[in-house]
Parts: sequence; structure tokens; C-alpha cells
Amino acid sequence: MGTDEIREKYLDFFKKKGHIEITPSPLVIDSDPTTLFTSSGMQQLAPYLKGEKHSKGKKLVDIQPSIRMQDLDEVADNRHFSFFEMLGNWSLGDYFKKDQLGFVWEFYTKELGLPPEKLYVSVFGGGGGVPKDTESFEIWKKIGVSESHIHFYDAEKNWWSRAGTPDQMPPGEIGGPDSEIFYEFDSVDHRSEFGKFCHPNCDCGKFLEIGNSVFMQYQKTENGELIELPQKNVDFGGGLERIAAAILDDPDVFHIDMFSGIIKKIEKETGIEYNSDSIKDKSFRIIADHLRTSVNLLSEGVIPGSKLHGYALRRLIRRSMFHFHLLGSGISGGAISHMAEDYRRFYPNVDKNWELVEENLTSEATRFEAALKRGLAKLTKSVSEGKVINGEFAFDLYQTEGFPLELTMEILKQNGIVFSTEEKNAFESEFEKHKESSRSASAGMFKGGLAEASVVTTKLHTATHLLHAALRQVLGEHVGQKGSHITPERLRFDFSHAQKLTDEEMDRVEGLINLKIKENLQVTPKAMSLDQAIKEGAMHFFAEKYGNEVKVYIIGDPNGIWFSKEVCGGPHVDHTGEIGGVKITKQEKIGSGIIRIYATLG
Ligand code: SER
Repeated sequence: MGTDEIREKYLDFFKKKGHIEITPSPLVIDSDPTTLFTSSGMQQLAPYLKGEKHSKGKKLVDIQPSIRMQDLDEVADNRHFSFFEMLGNWSLGDYFKKDQLGFVWEFYTKELGLPPEKLYVSVFGGGGGVPKDTESFEIWKKIGVSESHIHFYDAEKNWWSRAGTPDQMPPGEIGGPDSEIFYEFDSVDHRSEFGKFCHPNCDCGKFLEIGNSVFMQYQKTENGELIELPQKNVDFGGGLERIAAAILDDPDVFHIDMFSGIIKKIEKETGIEYNSDSIKDKSFRIIADHLRTSVNLLSEGVIPGSKLHGYALRRLIRRSMFHFHLLGSGISGGAISHMAEDYRRFYPNVDKNWELVEENLTSEATRFEAALKRGLAKLTKSVSEGKVINGEFAFDLYQTEGFPLELTMEILKQNGIVFSTEEKNAFESEFEKHKESSRSASAGMFKGGLAEASVVTTKLHTATHLLHAALRQVLGEHVGQKGSHITPERLRFDFSHAQKLTDEEMDRVEGLINLKIKENLQVTPKAMSLDQAIKEGAMHFFAEKYGNEVKVYIIGDPNGIWFSKEVCGGPHVDHTGEIGGVKITKQEKIGSGIIRIYATLG
């Protein structure tokens, strides 16, 4: 069964059970400065899990593209990704454990046809002041799962929140005990890796977690207690790629349909066969995974750079390039784009924005190809001369050639040299000093995005609407939003336009925004159908990403003369005067026909 069919079956199954399909979030959430990427389906639903009413009702379903880049080293095994698609269903205070576990079982065994004897489940064993989940245990037994296939684990394994265990949850964060489902591979000998009998939640690869039902029921208070949320929720997530592998009964998730094209292309380029050498396999997986994540990020307008999203993307592209070198053949920027083109078949947004994707992927890869050659030569020369490769040396390589530490370490490893933790720390401290670290720039960000939008980002959000409207007024109606991202420091806005703005155009745009701020226009949200919004002339970005019911923000008189009308989730200021003022700080041409503008408050 291919991934397309699994997606379709999942959505159909839950729609038949009364769920409404919602639109997944983009990978980069423009209004949320607290997280780099969307990492789970529940992220956009946090307010509704806390009790706010969702316009689509209490039973929701979607498939959420997600990025998890905490540990890129894991990608080299056969079951982890930096990007994956998560099947998700939610009960916002509607059904609970009994229905959810029943749905999971029915979907996996009946719809997908997974043999029940190959499935194992886990249940929360108690901890953090929350009792053992005997209710789920009894439900699984009633469903027909044998006791030997039900395992209890503590909060380390069987509790889910964006921040981790109950202890790790900051005030305000929500979470709960969960119940996971695993598929057992007979072909993996569970004793071979650890020399002992393993268990479903062991990381050896014998068992693959293919779904997680979180009973989202608790919230952390300011004084560190867990209290019950006003409603009992279900938050389910299952990795599409892993489910496809379970159906194939193949422990290597890189054997599924989505990767077969690119793996073949890498084989052709390098003359090496996948699965002929376990070390080389790792490079195959890293290339296939990182390029998939990269094209998806590029398709949303992320451009390789030295900070935040751009830096994360740059790392992925560089790592893929480097792994081609490890496979014994360098690769040109153009060739790597040609390889990544295979993903157009699977991701409509990548296909639609291919020109932008290709242009930026090729140019970043080409630039790094040259640096890689220089860096490799420097490093190998120093190694062969017996020079000490310390943290300072590694940092110099990073600064002069953009050589990430992990690549330096990898090359040293290949030469039998261990880069000590001490040297790693020396590198890090140099890194911090130069304020280049993506980590320092993203300090305070959570994996999932926990904080509420601050006053500053709210102002910048409304300023973005003013900028969009001003650009259209000054440059013409062809201007349309291509991307947007806000941090507490600035707004960034990408739009369609052939060339950079002239100084005069820039002055007019900035002047018009500040005039509208001075006029202290009212900002009014209005709920309506998407059709109605379009009829009323509201601007909308990626119409396919919205549901039928949308919120339109009107800047000006909602019943008379308005300046901007735009479909958006908010939040916004009530009056434009609150913004104070806006200054455009920079513009760039980021692709053919796409201009990027940065602006700050002030
Ligand atoms: N939020 C949970 C997860 O990401 C279930 O969807 O695993």
C-alpha cells in the first residue's frame, strides 16, 4: 500500500467517524516567534485543547507535515527523519480513551490490515502525581490485545507534551499520559544489538512506534502543579512513513515509495548500490532525508542563511553535499537539484514553487561545493602534517569556509581522530562569542512553540498587513504574498514582483504605512466563509491552506472605506496607532520574481 493510499484511508476513516478535516499548518509559522518549525499536529490546536471553541467542532483530523531537527544524527538510522508527515486526529473534549483506542485498533488492523499479533501497545505506568493508567490497560484487553503485548512505562516514555515529561513542562504547558502502538519486525533479531531481550519501547529497531494517542488532560500551573484541563482531550499522531514501512513489513523506512526515486538517482550518480554497505547506507539516508526537508522548506520561501530557519536549511543542504563526498563523488549544485526534483511528485507545494526551490537549492549547493573543496584540502593537509586540530582550528574552518563542526568531526573520525568534548566546547564558546549560533538566536524557543504572541509580534503582524496593502497600492495588483515570518526583532515579507524597489518606491511604501499608522485606523476581525471573503476582495495567501470558515481582518472602516482586508488567523492590534511606526530596513531578490523585505518597528 502506497503512502497516497494510506493518507486517503486515514482521512476517510476519521471522516466516517464524524471528524472534520482541518488544514495543516505551514512548516514555518509566521506569527509564532517561539518555535522554529511546526513539529506536531497539535501545535495549531493548543488554544482549543485548553478549552477555546474551534469553528470546525470537537472532532478534527488532518495530515501535518512536521519538522524535528533536534537530533540530525538519528537520521542515519533506518527510521528517523528530519521531516515527516503526521496523521492526526483530535477530540476537543468529545470522545476519550475507549473510543480512541478502539479507533486506533480498527484503523491499523482492519483498514490497513496489519496483523494483530505483530502489534504491541504501551500504557502510562504512573508518575508526576498522575496515577497509573489502568483504564487504558483494561480497554486494550477488552479490544482483544493479549496482556503480554501491553507494556507499562513511566513518564520518560509514556507522557507527551511539547516540552517532555511533567517535570520539564513550563507553566501553562499542556500534556498528558499516552498510549503508543508498535509494530514488531520478525526480521530484526532483537538480541543481536544489545545482547539481551528487548521490549517494545527499546530503540534497537526491533519494534517501530507507529502511533501515539495522547490523553491531553493536564496543564502545569505557575507553582509547578499539574491540574486537570476544563476538558479531556485526545491528540493522536502517527508517522505516515513508518506506517507504510510496517505495511511492507520492512524495518528500513527508506524503502517506501517516497524514497525509491531519489535512492535510485543517488545510486546512479555514485555508482554505489543502496544496502551494499552499512556505512554508505547512512549517507544515502541522510541525503534522501535532508533534501526532502530542504525542498519543503524552500517551497515555503525559506532561504539558506546564517540565522534561524535559514541556518537550519543551510545545514541540511551542506550535510547532503558532504555525504555525497563521503560516497566518493562530489556533486554539483545543479545535479543535486535534479536529484531533489523527484520530490515534486509527492509534494504539490514543492512542485508549484519549483523555480524558487531549484534556484536557491542550486545556488546554496554550488557555493558550498567550492568551500567544501577548499575546506577538505585544508583539513586533510593539516591532518597529514600531523597538526593538532582543536576547537579553534575547527572554528576558523567554520568562519572561513562555512564548514560546520559536525563535518569537521566526521572527517576527523574518518581519519581515526577523535575530537574531544573539550575541543567541542572550545568551538562552541568561539561560536557564541561571534553570535553566529542559530541556537543563541533561537534561545527560549521550544520544540513546539509555547508562548503566547507578544505585544511586539502582534504589532509586527498588523504592520505586515499594512505593508502588503501598501506594496499593492504603490507597485500594482500583481503583488501577492509568497511568505512571511515574524520574530520579536523584525518582520520579513516575501512577495511577487519582478525587480527590487527603487528608492522612490521604497519611500512611498514606507510613507504610506506610516500614514495609515498615524490615521489610527480601526482593526476589525470578521468571521465569514472563504467564498465570501474572496467576494469582498480580501487578500488570501495559499487559499488551499484555509478551511471554509475564515477570519478576515479589516484595517479601516469595516462598512466603509478600508485600507487592507486580509484573511488571517491574527493576533492583531485594535488600532494601527498602537504600532507606533514602521521602518523598512532591507530588501533582497530571493528568486526570479520574488522580493523579500525586512522591516522593524520604529
Ligand atoms: N502530539 C503527539 C505527538 O506528536 C501526538 O500527536 O506525538
